[in-house]
Amino acid sequence: MIEEIEQYFRDFTQELAQVATRDELHRVKGKYAGRKSKFPVFLSRLKILPLEERRVVGQKLNEIKLLIEQLLKEKEAALLKEEKKEVLDISLPGKREPLGAFHPLRIVMDEIIAIFRSLGFRVEEGPEIETDFFNFEALNIPRDHPARDAQDSFYLEENLLLRTHTSPAQIRVMRKLAPPFRVIVPGKCYRRDAFDATHSPMFHQVEGLVVAPGISMGDLKGTIEIFVRRLFGEERKVRFRPSYFPFTEPSAEVDISCSICQGQGCRACGEKGWLEIMGAGLVHPQVFRNAGYDPEKVQGFAFGMGVERITMLKFGIPDIRWFFENDVAFLSSFKALR
Ligand code: PHE
Repeated sequence: MIEEIEQYFRDFTQELAQVATRDELHRVKGKYAGRKSKFPVFLSRLKILPLEERRVVGQKLNEIKLLIEQLLKEKEAALLKEEKKEVLDISLPGKREPLGAFHPLRIVMDEIIAIFRSLGFRVEEGPEIETDFFNFEALNIPRDHPARDAQDSFYLEENLLLRTHTSPAQIRVMRKLAPPFRVIVPGKCYRRDAFDATHSPMFHQVEGLVVAPGISMGDLKGTIEIFVRRLFGEERKVRFRPSYFPFTEPSAEVDISCSICQGQGCRACGEKGWLEIMGAGLVHPQVFRNAGYDPEKVQGFAFGMGVERITMLKFGIPDIRWFFENDVAFLSSFKALR
């Protein structure tokens, strides 16, 4: 019988060694320690043994029983510890909700706004659906003016259209505020352009307008130079090129030096060494009159920049369509920026 008890113990230790979970332990415990174990059977057989043998076998049986109980306890403690370790494993990556990223246009738009705010500009808004009057007429662009051709438009009704630029907000702001003031108007614009590498039928502009007595081209130049250096870096050069807009006089196109060739001329800038970023000029006297101001009493400057273009220059993005394709790989590459 001693032999049998020892065999029983060996079976037990072998099975215990295989145990890896608490469920398995529970099963082994039931088999070797509970009422269904072999111990009740061993005990009843013990009773009919001769006294001397009974003492020896009884002692053995007791020893083994206690040993089994102790080993079960130890195993249970080890398993528990293992489980706790799993819970506390802080090196495991947590469950994470995927976080969105700011769109590159939003990042640059906010940067532009922040720079102008720091220069004392306030932010205003205008409607995306405009009247012919605000979008064209009040800006000195009459119905038969060739400047309308350059801004082929989406019309909703004869006198209602999606604004082709943010300049109509100039008139709205002048009617709402009293000078002196400095405002910028960021927003969406629409033109009936084919969707290609440099054109999109929907795009963004930031309009600027400063009105006060005695404002000159010098104020415009100084403001734009500070803006360009803050946005693109101190080493950037700014150039004002004479141009024409019906609502500014004089008018200028603002160029920045090409960052790739430093003004030498390369493929990125079309061998010009300069890249155009906005239109600007002094507010035309007729525009002041259209807004109800006396051009003898106040002067002002205005500018309008394309946000897509500026973002493409800032990040070296070659195709405007990338902004609107919802390609997550492209968009998430701006995650680190904000
Ligand atoms: N509205 C002009 C455009 O869309 C830009 C501009 C704004 C020019 C203000 C002069 C002054 O091209």
